[in-house]
Amino acid sequence: MAGLAVDTMRVALIGGSGQLGTEIRRRWTDDEIVAPPHAEIDIEDAAAVAAMLDAVKPDAVVNCAAFHNVDRCEAEPGRAFAVNAVAVDRVAHLCDERSTAFVTISTDYVFDGASARPYVETDRPAPLSAYGVSKLAGELLALRLRSRALVVRTCGVYGVRPSASKGYTFVDRVIAQARAGEPIRIVNDVTASPTFAGDLALAIRFLLERRASGLYHAANAGPVTWHAFAVEALRQAGIAYPVEPIPAASWKAPARRPAFSALDSGKLRALGFDMPGWREGIEAYLYALGLAAVPGEE
Ligand SMILES: NC(=O)c1ccc[n+]([C@@H]2O[C@H](COP(=O)([O-])OP(=O)(O)OC[C@H]3O[C@@H](n4cnc5c(N)ncnc54)[C@H](OP(=O)(O)O)[C@@H]3O)[C@@H](O)[C@H]2O)c1
Repeated sequence: MAGLAVDTMRVALIGGSGQLGTEIRRRWTDDEIVAPPHAEIDIEDAAAVAAMLDAVKPDAVVNCAAFHNVDRCEAEPGRAFAVNAVAVDRVAHLCDERSTAFVTISTDYVFDGASARPYVETDRPAPLSAYGVSKLAGELLALRLRSRALVVRTCGVYGVRPSASKGYTFVDRVIAQARAGEPIRIVNDVTASPTFAGDLALAIRFLLERRASGLYHAANAGPVTWHAFAVEALRQAGIAYPVEPIPAASWKAPARRPAFSALDSGKLRALGFDMPGWREGIEAYLYALGLAAVPGEE
């Protein structure tokens, strides 16, 4: 990542209107960020991306775009590969040719869930879904180049601007269901590291500042089941409401998902950035939504 200005950067953000992209735009306040909407720049259109890079001349390109509807990827593996692997490869090449830093985001779904402890970067990936395979392919394609991209794996992202493909976050949904008096049933045998997009955005900025390259995990700390996560989100939102634990087997979905996919961000911590715990992630999220007091105060 030669030539990267760290105090203030010019950044080309692809997928900047999504959960993570929104937090990057909100939090990288010292940087100049150019974030054309999807309608203007499709990551699959290499000529358009090249023209943008030549016009903007960014210090870094951050790719937050993905086809990450896991069940749709299972039905459309060609599209999953086109967006999550082939397009990533092309943008990585364009950055390589221009000596521009390149960051792309990957997923806990590259793992099969057989681990008994949170996954570290050196653990062997073994994806169970077409989505996971396509994201792993994107990682390997980006990392093989001489300039070495930065690949940041994360997990269960939620942010103030919900993913357009869903329209709400997991936390929003449990709060809305409780307020509507609907039954809430959440799996208690699937463990992950749900991650607030605001924390992830700061971690990526830190890695860029440190000129990091290669593979890093960045997820809110501490494995948690989705059931325990929902219970804590309601508690922090000040809503007393029952959450029924259910087994994942009762939730029929086309794509297989890992039962355990918590990520260990120790490599990032060793560099000097401590990802907050999952409870702090909920706190920061509810605060950003105006649903909670100042983080750290109850
Ligand atoms: N969400 C999760 O739980 C999760 C978990 C692990 C890893 N990740 C990874 O984290 C990254 C960011 O996820 P996110 O939750 O921020 O996603 P998101 O909210 O769905 O945002 C994705 C962004 O990419 C844009 N986009 C989609 N396809 C595009 C294309 N072909 N060309 C250009 N832009 C395109 C979308 O624009 P439109 O909405 O206008 O199409 C949107 O701005 C992704 O790489 C994802 O795989 C996510």
